[in-house]
Amino acid sequence: MNRLDQIITTFDLGLRTVFASPHAARPYPGSGPEADLGEAERARAAALMRVNHVGEVCAQALYAGQALTAQNEQVRAELDQAAKEETDHLAWCEQRINELGGRKSLLNPLWFGGAFALGAAAGLLGDKWNLGFLAETERQVEAHLDGHLQQLPEADAKSRAVVEQMKTDEARHAQTAVDHGGAPLPSPVKWAMRLAADVMRQTASRI
Ligand SMILES: [Fe+2]
Ligand SMILES: [Fe+2]
Repeated sequence: MNRLDQIITTFDLGLRTVFASPHAARPYPGSGPEADLGEAERARAAALMRVNHVGEVCAQALYAGQALTAQNEQVRAELDQAAKEETDHLAWCEQRINELGGRKSLLNPLWFGGAFALGAAAGLLGDKWNLGFLAETERQVEAHLDGHLQQLPEADAKSRAVVEQMKTDEARHAQTAVDHGGAPLPSPVKWAMRLAADVMRQTASRI
């Protein structure tokens, strides 16, 4: 692809991620019966799933940035597989938000743009750091999802099933990035990433 094609493809992905409803290739993990949740529990679950949805909007952008910059064809193919699973996550989170009567973040265009810029910047540093950044992101997402499993209402088996499957997938994505040569990031970088993710979580839980 030439540069203009790449820009158009990315812009198209951004529009589809933010404004369209994606289709999952795999079955929805939360297909079981709906629990009888109280209003407050339902609102809490919807807010948590909105935060997860924002994470998946960012994953779309990050993987698009990676695909643009990955230098090795095999790495690109593996990342493509992970990116497809991220689309499942995006679709599942949206479906769950709808089932709970919640709404998506109003700032999704901003999240997409910011994550794409970060992904592309990491890509400029070469595959080793690019993949290291990806692995660390996936690990932090896995830990974050684990935290959500503590916070989601115990009875909300549908949200929990979605988050459980995402967590399993993110751990595999992290391993894929490491297997292809992702380097461990310096501690201050990991710390800054956690801080940025915290700001995103706090904001997305409200807006
Ligand atoms: Fe994901
Ligand atoms: Fe992932």
